[in-house]
Amino acid sequence: MTQRVAVIGAGPSGLAQLRAFQSAAQKGAKIPEIVCFEKQDDWGGLWNYTWRTGLDEYGEPVHGSMYRYLWSNGPKECLEFADYTFEEHFGKPIPSYPPRAVLWDYIKGRVEKAGVRHWCRFRTPVRHVVFDHETDRFRVTAHDLVADRQYTEEFDFVVVATGHFSTPNVPYYPGFDTFNGRILHAHDFRDALEFKDKDILIIGTSYSAEDIGSQCWKYGCKSVTVSYRTKPMGYHWPDNWQEVPRLEKVVNKTAYFIDGTKKDVDAIILCTGYLHHFPFLSDELRLKTENRLWPLGLYKGVVWEANPKLFYIGMQDQFYTFNMFDAQAWFARDVMLGRIKLPSREEMEKDSRAWREREERLETDEDMIWFQGDNVRELIEMTDYPRFNIEGVNRTFMEWEHHKHEDIMGFRDNSYRSLMTGNMQPKHHTKWVDALDDSLESYLQVEPKSAAAE
Ligand SMILES: Cc1cc2nc3c(=O)[nH]c(=O)nc-3n(C[C@H](O)[C@H](O)[C@H](O)COP(=O)(O)OP(=O)(O)OC[C@H]3O[C@@H](n4cnc5c(N)ncnc54)[C@H](O)[C@@H]3O)c2cc1C
Ligand SMILES: NC(=O)c1ccc[n+]([C@@H]2O[C@H](COP(=O)([O-])OP(=O)(O)OC[C@H]3O[C@@H](n4cnc5c(N)ncnc54)[C@H](OP(=O)(O)O)[C@@H]3O)[C@@H](O)[C@H]2O)c1
Repeated sequence: MTQRVAVIGAGPSGLAQLRAFQSAAQKGAKIPEIVCFEKQDDWGGLWNYTWRTGLDEYGEPVHGSMYRYLWSNGPKECLEFADYTFEEHFGKPIPSYPPRAVLWDYIKGRVEKAGVRHWCRFRTPVRHVVFDHETDRFRVTAHDLVADRQYTEEFDFVVVATGHFSTPNVPYYPGFDTFNGRILHAHDFRDALEFKDKDILIIGTSYSAEDIGSQCWKYGCKSVTVSYRTKPMGYHWPDNWQEVPRLEKVVNKTAYFIDGTKKDVDAIILCTGYLHHFPFLSDELRLKTENRLWPLGLYKGVVWEANPKLFYIGMQDQFYTFNMFDAQAWFARDVMLGRIKLPSREEMEKDSRAWREREERLETDEDMIWFQGDNVRELIEMTDYPRFNIEGVNRTFMEWEHHKHEDIMGFRDNSYRSLMTGNMQPKHHTKWVDALDDSLESYLQVEPKSAAAE
């Protein structure tokens, strides 16, 4: 009987899994039947922008957390696919911090070339996954939203690639229930222009806080106040931007902080992260973790140790993204194809504990990047994914960090060398602060010659 693989989610992680199997088939391997279930009407995951918030037209929670004018927050040279370069896709080198539409186009280009769209069932969320210990197979229940029909099918392997930046973590602070303004989570933020001329308070200090604050500043908000729970971000912020300690309470429109200071604000944006949320998985299959570099229970960050027929892609906190998902997907594929033999559960747990102990000793962003790079390298070395210069990627991340500390509103004006093609990438034609049009068409008006001149 032909083996069957269910891939849940057609974002960058799920698509990496599809491409991994297609690449094996292209080289002559016999591969299982693949079915990819995707809740949205197209592929690309978070990169497939939606204006909707709350529930979609079928009453499903909206997956999208991306917003208008979002540009890559890291150099594209760090996420480039090793088997499909930006230069192959766009026909020329392009600048290093593309807006969302450009990255979505790139993600789609690889899978369109691979011809795997017929493996996807769009508008089909997975509702329930259980493992039947008698048949040794999974029963996957999905909902065809268009036909409004639920059905169950059996699979030998399941790959969970549903992402973990979609279900918001929403804390409560005293006074929120009587605040005379708007309170929203980053998940529902769509357009910075909504906050033009407004005083905004941001809670949180990670990437959403930094970028949503920067967007609002760029598009003309009156002031940005960022409240930190642990420590301030510490960049050289513009004059109308301040970092304050933890919020104590809100009274009407006034926010009070634990150092005794206060500020009148029009809106509060909770950039307080996301929950790993898998309501469709039974308890014995469900990863339970906060957002961190080494969640426990996943051998090499991928294989569910309690049932190694189940795989998770992209569940870590992320410096590395697309090419890490590839490394994981190629590894998962080779376990499913029997090319990689797994050790005993005890040995898998021991290996994971060692990674976790190392993770707990990491102190700086730099340490974390080298740690994640080591995991990616280890995975790639076990498969036929094209080798690439991980140390070079790590060093590009270091340059990125340096550029952010030099100029937080200007770091996206830098460009870097592709680790895949060796070519220096051009600088963007317009400074990020002045580039208000984030369309693909606007972005790609690049003079290719500037690349050669570097
Ligand atoms: C605001 C924001 C900005 C980001 N910016 C960057 C960036 O600049 N650079 C970068 O490298 N990374 C960025 N990221 C990180 C992002 O996590 C990755 O780039 C990438 O999108 C993760 O891919 P994924 O496939 O794991 O998850 P997702 O992109 O979230 O895709 C998961 C897919 O699973 C589907 N799905 C979910 N539940 C079900 C279900 N039950 N049944 C069927 N389908 C389901 C969803 O509809 C979705 O299509 C950003 C994240 C956020 C939130
Ligand atoms: N392309 C872009 O520009 C862009 C923009 C936005 C997001 N992203 C991506 O989106 C992903 C998620 O980033 P994220 O920033 O949303 O989440 P995150 O990295 O998980 O950070 C969560 C933040 O919320 C804070 N927090 C949590 N609970 C809190 C509470 N009760 N009170 C106060 N603060 C609280 C945490 O503070 P502590 O430090 O105190 O724990 C932390 O600063 C990342 O991969 C990022 O790269 C990219």
